[in-house]
Amino acid sequence: MRTQVAIIGAGPAGLTLARQLALQGIESIVVEHRDRAYIENRTRAGILEQPTVTLMHELGAGTRLAVEGMDHDGFFLRFDRTTHRLNFHRLIGGHATVYAQQELVKDLVALRLEEDGPILFETKVVGIDTRADGATLRAERAGEIVTIEADFVAACDGFHGVGRAHIPDSERIEITRTYPVAWLGILARTAPATPEGMYCAHEDGLSLHSMRGPRITRQYLQVPADTDLDDWPDERIWDELTRRSESIDHPELERGEIFDRSLAPLRSVVCETMQKGRLFLLGDAAHIVPPAGAKGLNLAVSDACVLSYALGAHYKAGIREHLDSYSTTCLPRIWQAQYFSWLLTTTIHALSDDPMDLRLRLTRMQRWVESEDEQRALGEVYLGLPFPTPW
Ligand code: FAD
Ligand code: DHB
Repeated sequence: MRTQVAIIGAGPAGLTLARQLALQGIESIVVEHRDRAYIENRTRAGILEQPTVTLMHELGAGTRLAVEGMDHDGFFLRFDRTTHRLNFHRLIGGHATVYAQQELVKDLVALRLEEDGPILFETKVVGIDTRADGATLRAERAGEIVTIEADFVAACDGFHGVGRAHIPDSERIEITRTYPVAWLGILARTAPATPEGMYCAHEDGLSLHSMRGPRITRQYLQVPADTDLDDWPDERIWDELTRRSESIDHPELERGEIFDRSLAPLRSVVCETMQKGRLFLLGDAAHIVPPAGAKGLNLAVSDACVLSYALGAHYKAGIREHLDSYSTTCLPRIWQAQYFSWLLTTTIHALSDDPMDLRLRLTRMQRWVESEDEQRALGEVYLGLPFPTPW
């Protein structure tokens, strides 16, 4: 098989890039290790920034999003048993939209298959060879080896993919931090605790109360990194969510059926070497943010924007410079998101039992709820900084 751009991975990064290339008349092949049902049902992110929503409309992927997405002006923050509302929309305009990642994936998969070209599902890339004039992928499909020749490779294959590993350790600048905690996430059939998502910074750890609709909630608990899900039966999860979200101003949390549960570690990784010759890393393949602040999916989409523009300039006008500057164009926005996620993570989680840390965290949150300037600064990043524009 031969194409212009070989895309590894049909997550948000790969599917967005494939659509952007198709709209510019650039051919691509998307190779996905899992089957369609698996990627369309994987529970993960849920908060889309304003620039992501605007882009999805431009790509023709916004029809269901416009109907089913829930626009939020900001979020609630609860500490010292008191609830505060941070309304960013009021200060800077725009919204964050609640729309589950798997729904966005479904919309982009349907668009790809109906209008743009195939996705090779259940095909796992096992080898990448890049040369000065092109690249070759080797992939396994139903016990057979498939070879794909391409001008460029876009590695959109997530944190454990083969793309990043293709860049030798000695050539890769990679900066990592791990946190001693994880998020235990659930989906439950209950009404949301508040009309928009709420972070509860309890002294024993975070609880987060988000939603996927008027009768489905997405809630998270800070737990130790080595937690075993089997130690958390439903009742223990509800007891802890209830205890950490207790307040003087709202009724107790509603309980209901839990129908999905998972654990996610908290870590920050930035692989600053986002390209090697004709190979480019996008999304989680290049960077991971701790989940607080909901930046991961949005960063994946913004990388796709930069690369699709650079590939367009290359194919249409023979301009190579935007491809060469791909990493340096993407990195400032990635670091802004890392900073925001770090700030939120270290403020709303209990990461030590030092009383000084607790007082300082409470003091920071007090400024956030009292100062419009602080809210504006938080809101600009929460609702989404503009996508990078090298042009
Ligand atoms: P992925 O979605 O991981 O896609 C990579 C794809 O590549 C996968 O489909 C995989 O099967 C495929 N693949 C891997 N290796 C190969 C191979 N060798 N060959 C072929 N295919 C391969 N982000 C937000 O923005 N907002 C949120 O609210 C949010 N909440 C989150 C909550 C949780 C609990 C978690 C875990 C994450 C959350 N994130 C959030 C992060 C977000 O889900 C990720 O950042 C996002 O999925 C990254 O998209 P991606 O396309 O880069 O990678
Ligand atoms: C959700 C995820 C997040 O990481 C976050 O900070 C807020 C909400 C969610 O899944 O709804």
